[in-house]
Formats: sequence, structure tokens, C-alpha cells
Amino acid sequence: MNYRGLNVLVTGGLGFIGSNLTLRLVELGAKVTIVDPILPGCGGNACNIDPVRESVRVIGADISDAAQFRDTIAASDVIFNLAGEISHLHSMHFPERDLQINTVAQLRFLLECKAAARGVRIVYAGTRQVYGKPRYLPVDEGHSIEPVDFNGVHKYAATQYHRMLTRTGDLDAYMLRLTNVYGPRMALDAVCQGFLSTYVRRLLLGQPLEIYGDGRQLRDPVYVDDVVQSFLIAGRAQGTISRSFNVGGPEALSLAELARLAASAAGAPEPVLRPFPDDRKNIDIGSYRTDNNRIGRELDWSPRVRFADGIRRTLDFYRERLPHYLPTGDVGPVCNMPEHSGAPRRLTYAEVARHS
Ligand SMILES: NC(=O)c1ccc[n+]([C@@H]2O[C@H](COP(=O)([O-])OP(=O)(O)OC[C@H]3O[C@@H](n4cnc5c(N)ncnc54)[C@H](O)[C@@H]3O)[C@@H](O)[C@H]2O)c1
Repeated sequence: MNYRGLNVLVTGGLGFIGSNLTLRLVELGAKVTIVDPILPGCGGNACNIDPVRESVRVIGADISDAAQFRDTIAASDVIFNLAGEISHLHSMHFPERDLQINTVAQLRFLLECKAAARGVRIVYAGTRQVYGKPRYLPVDEGHSIEPVDFNGVHKYAATQYHRMLTRTGDLDAYMLRLTNVYGPRMALDAVCQGFLSTYVRRLLLGQPLEIYGDGRQLRDPVYVDDVVQSFLIAGRAQGTISRSFNVGGPEALSLAELARLAASAAGAPEPVLRPFPDDRKNIDIGSYRTDNNRIGRELDWSPRVRFADGIRRTLDFYRERLPHYLPTGDVGPVCNMPEHSGAPRRLTYAEVARHS
């Protein structure tokens, strides 16, 4: 896992996972360039890389305009490809936007990589959402692909671009399929980004946690430091049998239990159950639990941070830096839900409270 002196490109590097990866790469001695325009509605935040700002080059471009930074691609030893939109709900309201961000932009970027840096190592941030509603648990890489939302369909297309171009020798890609990731630097000011950022935001704002449905669905959240480690290993892997790997957390807990642990870490009241809103019910996948055996066997990776510990570390991080993640006043979180005028814009806190 030697990164010292390597030229590393991180797409989406101002976002949650990309920035944590960047911080670690700088620590390991890599020369990092980030490509990220901070797309409205996504989780990018320039403050995420504050500790390494002087050591990192940031190109404020969209990866679909990759010709603009062709020389940087050509000089890259490893590319970590994390640019993307994570909201399943946004993808249902704005399918073409999701298609553009998660598929078309990826296609353009990969074709540029093929032209400028044939055979370059790329590690792609895929998602467990491609499996849809699990037919069995834990879910392994052989599970059928039946996404329940556009985000899953579009991310799967991008995964297949990486796979196909690797088969033809144009790229040397690894694809990681991530379960719910949480930890420092996830966006709190963008609604509809998943239940974990909502939990953290509500706890920091002193609001009670709400659980949709009966709270018995299982999830296996994975702490961001563990995810970063899986990317770093995949970035230098050699001679593996597989190219696609599930990446999940160390334990599967019910949503009610996760909410209870989070509330208890924050000293907040017990969470309350609420009926499922219709738009979320349609894309709910029921219980999910990752089978991490393949990545354990082939890449020697396993998740280490348990939820009770990870959520405490997460809350501590934000308490010290709250103004950078939840600015006060009228200028609140970003959203692009249709009821908010159809275009991405910043919301007021009153609006956020209604959508948390
Ligand atoms: N967070 C999770 O739980 C999770 C789970 C599964 C998969 N993933 C995948 O991991 C990746 C990173 O997720 P995250 O949680 O850090 O999201 P994030 O929203 O915090 O960060 C994504 C970043 O990508 C940038 N971006 C989006 N489209 C871009 C484009 N066309 N060109 C350049 N930059 C672009 C955004 O500006 C943002 O800074 C995504 O591809 C996501 O699909 C995340």
C-alpha cells in the first residue's frame, strides 16, 4: 500500500468519502489532485479538506469535461473515482439529472482516461443499491441485480463501463459496492442523503430521531475510515481473481437499534416511530446485510469500527466544527426536490425540519 510520491486523482474529492480518502493519501505521501465542482444537491464542501488545503490541487471541473484536465489524467498513477450523486430519492424525482451525473459524466470521463492513460488503475465507488431488495442475507457479489431506483440503475451502468473497459485492457478498474457509509465530513446540509446524515443532523440540532416503519429493517453501516482503507488497498491490488467487491460494516443492526445507539451517544431522547412516507416506501429495500467474505479473502480487508464507537466519533467531529457543516440563519441546506422550485437551491431551516 505504498502511495509515497504517486500522482493520485480523486474525483468527487470535496465530498464525504473522497475528502476522507484525500486526507489519508496526503498522510501517506501521495501527490493528490481533486476534481470536484461542488455540484448543488451533492455533499461537496470545501472545508472538508481544510487540514491539507496547501498540499492538494483542486480542479473545479465536472468529470464530464475531462478533456479540460487531460494532462492530469495522463500523469495519474491511480484514480479514485468517487464523483456521483448518492440520493436515491433525488434520482426518482430527477432521473435525467441522476443519469447525467452518475452515468453520462462517468462515460465521458472513462473514455478520456482510456485515451489519455490507457490501462490506468481506477477504483470506482459503486453501491449496494444495485442489488435492490435482497433475495437472501447476507448479500454476496453473486446476488441478482434488480435496482429499485434510478440511482441504482445508473450506478450499475457506470460499474459496467469500468468492467467492460477493463476487459478490453483500456482500464485497470476495481469496483467497490458500498453499503451505507457514515462518519466525519458527510454532508449534513443536504437533505435526502440517507438516514445516517439525517440522524446526525437532527441530533446536533436537538431534534428527536424518527424511524420510518416498524424499525426492524437491518442495515450494516460502515465507518468512513474503514471504507478509505478498502479504497487504498484496491488502489494497489495485484493479481486478484475478482474485480468487484462488496464493502459492508462489521454488524447488522435494526434501524431502531441504530437510532437508539445514535441517540444515546448524543444524550438525546428515545427515537420515535413514524409511518413510512409513500415516496420512500416505494424505494425501500427492506433489510440489508453485506457478505464481506470476498474482500476479506482477496484483499485482506475487514471493517473494524463498530457503530456505537463510529457514531460517537462522528458526533464529536461535528460538535467542534458545526458552523462549517450546519451554517445558521436563513441560508440552510441544499436541496433540489420539486416542491422546492425544481432547481437546486439552499433551503431555510424551517424547510429542512419538514424534510428531515
Ligand atoms: N455515502 C454513501 O453511503 C455511499 C454509499 C454507496 C456508494 N456511494 C458512492 O460513493 C461516492 C461518494 O459518495 P459521498 O457519500 O462521498 O457523496 P458526496 O455527495 O459527499 O460527494 C460526492 C462528490 O462528487 C462531486 N461530483 C458529483 N458529480 C460530479 C461530477 N460530474 N464531476 C465531478 N465531481 C462530481 C460532488 O460535488 C461531491 O462533492 C458516490 O459515487 C456514491 O454513489 C456512497
